[in-house]
Amino acid sequence: MMNLYREFILDHYKNPRNYGEMETPDIQYQEGNPLCGDEIQIALKLKDGVVEDVKFKGHGCAISMASTSILTEMIKGKSLDEVKKIGKDEMLQALYIPIGPTRLKCALLGLKVLKAGVYGIHEWPGEEEDK
Ligand code: FES
Repeated sequence: MMNLYREFILDHYKNPRNYGEMETPDIQYQEGNPLCGDEIQIALKLKDGVVEDVKFKGHGCAISMASTSILTEMIKGKSLDEVKKIGKDEMLQALYIPIGPTRLKCALLGLKVLKAGVYGIHEWPGEEEDK
């Protein structure tokens, strides 16, 4: 069963969903993991406060890219308030495989970029993994 879940992650890594550039995003934010240099940019198109479209791009390890790809699928059609409520546990559950402490930052990089973008970097209450 675990193999199936690993396949799921690998599939998202090799065929990332919603990957690419967005022409005129309403929200766009980019940040990296300073420890490894991986970078992710997430762009959102909103309509009436709801995520109508999302794109991401960047470079990173399999876990960071796959988790961001999965995250983009999770947030399409959600309101910004709902997006703000997505927490660390929900993100980790969506990956289906156990994530050890050393890969936690990888698994949460996309969520961190998304939250900073959605809250606005100055309003953001803090990193998910710190809570
Ligand atoms: Fe850089 Fe995973 S090794 S985010």
